[in-house]
Amino acid sequence: MDRRVVICLLLGCSVCFYILTGCGLSAKEKKEVGTALVKSVFILPDTSLIPNDMFGEEVRYGRQLLLNTAYYIGPNGTKGHYLRNRMNCTNCHQDAGVKPYSFNLLSSHDNYPQYRAREGKILTLAERVNNCIMRPHNGKPLPLDSREMVAILSYLKWINSFAPKGGGFEGAKNMAIQFPAAAASPKRGKEVFTQLCASCHGNDGSGQLNSDGTGFIYPPLWGGQAYQPGSSMHRIIKMARWLKANMPYNKVTTGKPFLTDQQALDVAAFINDDDIHDRPNPKSFDYPDPVTKPIDYDRGPFADSFPSVQHKFGPYQPIIDYRKTMRLPVDY
Ligand code: HEC
Ligand code: HEC
Repeated sequence: MDRRVVICLLLGCSVCFYILTGCGLSAKEKKEVGTALVKSVFILPDTSLIPNDMFGEEVRYGRQLLLNTAYYIGPNGTKGHYLRNRMNCTNCHQDAGVKPYSFNLLSSHDNYPQYRAREGKILTLAERVNNCIMRPHNGKPLPLDSREMVAILSYLKWINSFAPKGGGFEGAKNMAIQFPAAAASPKRGKEVFTQLCASCHGNDGSGQLNSDGTGFIYPPLWGGQAYQPGSSMHRIIKMARWLKANMPYNKVTTGKPFLTDQQALDVAAFINDDDIHDRPNPKSFDYPDPVTKPIDYDRGPFADSFPSVQHKFGPYQPIIDYRKTMRLPVDY
């Protein structure tokens, strides 16, 4: 029987940690109902189950930090000035990191320490959190022993208690994308942006702050307040896989994409085209080892002979095929 169903039955449906349509069905019965049912199995930790002790207090604060990051540690933060923009973690890791297909953080506590290609070394989870503070938030790292870092780690540990060991649950990773034969087109992407994105993010991509200026109602996509070029969101495949499940905000429901793969790639190409849009810092020089560099990172040297412009905009399939033949890692 599916492990999730076992947990569900043990706990009873009313306190089930999972939104599990068809709770109590055997794995065989679930299969008979079809993939639509299996697709509706998502792990959503119930925050009313956060313990009422000191650890729970940190977990609650950690969750608030993900939801209202800039209020606490933004440019005018009440607990210190670490971020240089007013984005919140939840703008990308939606629902404080538990939304499926949205850079889901349920398994992060299990996943670290881990080799990271960007730095070319093993990072702890705290260092990984600081990476997002330094790149998407364009900021300076939180001290590892600060209450804020301890709270974020406590929250990540608590949500992790709901994740099956080894990950692999629905929405743990962002949605897959089929690569078209041609390169992604910033020109077509601009049309997608104007039609489907500008109404919220603004024609100039600068988003919209909330009334007291402590965070964004609609976060910025480029310009001085947006993520840095060194952020993974600046990579076109990485962004497109996230956009597919999550944008336009008002047109998607969890697990049901609105954009086609082509539109997602094109609009990601438009947003991330450095010839069209400025971002906070000069490009950071990451990924010291060309072999483990993701294929959609555009700055050489590369372990293959494809030009920088193809690494950035595609077509990606020839790069993937070549690297597979040469037994080089294919990461994106
Ligand atoms: C109805 C308003 C709305 C529309 C339309 C919309 N977005 Fe968003 N977008 C949001 C909101 C709200 C968030 C923050 C989500 C959160 O905090 O949970 C967001 C977040 C994002 C982010 C991640 C955070 C950042 O600023 O880097 C990207 C990238 C993004 N949107 C791109 C797009 C693209 C591309 C489109 C069009 C295809 C689009 N959005 C359409 C409201 C919208
Ligand atoms: C502009 C978008 C954006 C913002 C804002 C952002 N992140 Fe990230 N974060 C990413 C992307 C992209 C990744 C890489 C995910 C991947 O490779 O699949 C990532 C990865 C991570 C990871 C590693 C996940 C894992 O299991 O490997 C952690 C932890 C993390 N972010 C925490 C945070 C925290 C905490 C904040 C707020 C302080 C934050 N992030 C803000 C985009 C963002």
